[in-house]
Amino acid sequence: MFVLCLSASPILFPASARHTATVIFVHGLGDTGRGWAGTVENWRRRQRLDEVKFILPHAPAIPITCNWGEKMPGWYDIHTLDGNAESLSVNEDEAGILVSQAYFHELIQKEIDAGIPPERIVLGGFSQGGAISIFSGLTAKVKLGGIVALSSYLLLSLKFADLVPKPEFNKDTPIFMAHGDSDPVVHPELGKKSYDLLKGLGYNATLKIYKDMEHSACPEELDDVEAFLRERLPALGNSDAKSEL
Ligand SMILES: *[C@@H]1O[C@H](CO)[C@@H](O)[C@H](O)[C@H]1NC(C)=O
Repeated sequence: MFVLCLSASPILFPASARHTATVIFVHGLGDTGRGWAGTVENWRRRQRLDEVKFILPHAPAIPITCNWGEKMPGWYDIHTLDGNAESLSVNEDEAGILVSQAYFHELIQKEIDAGIPPERIVLGGFSQGGAISIFSGLTAKVKLGGIVALSSYLLLSLKFADLVPKPEFNKDTPIFMAHGDSDPVVHPELGKKSYDLLKGLGYNATLKIYKDMEHSACPEELDDVEAFLRERLPALGNSDAKSEL
């Protein structure tokens, strides 16, 4: 696909032990996969996720309306970014969202083709990257191990239920949502509203709010993400990955 060819291949961090699980972590607007490399390197240094391969994709540069049409790395266009909880859910770029959704479904499929069971794959990200992770994860036609959404929100919330293919594979999939209580970009109210919508639709989401955190991440939050990844993707050691599942 034309748009997909424009984005550079993701940064890969191979598993330091036997590769039995994969985490795809998706950056936010205007960033690149490199923006999260330090976080992944920290987790790798702690050696608690040794069987996990990390994939940090790069968004293609696209014109962003709220930045006067300037091109920057983005997973979809954003019309208005004014801190108002409602603004992000009007004039949503459905076409752009669906292109990125196809890209993430393709990344997931590549891991499955390489022998990683979908239950051993977690998709997550920050801001736009978290929003596209919830959207792509919950609409995947395989059951994932988990979804992480930091400082983000539910895309196409008004029609989301209709966009999920039936039967649903990810109704029970744990979704870890996290938000700063002082986020001026994606207001915590929107995170809370998205969480309520997901719970209302029967999804298995948890939302943790971090005090005095703006539109960024904090060490406590990244420790919580690491704990979630360890819980969802426990090390299998030398046992056969398939017989464990
Ligand atoms: C919901 O998610 C939690 C982890 O966040 C998990 O422990 C629990 O088993 C999940 N529930 C279902 C029904 O899968």
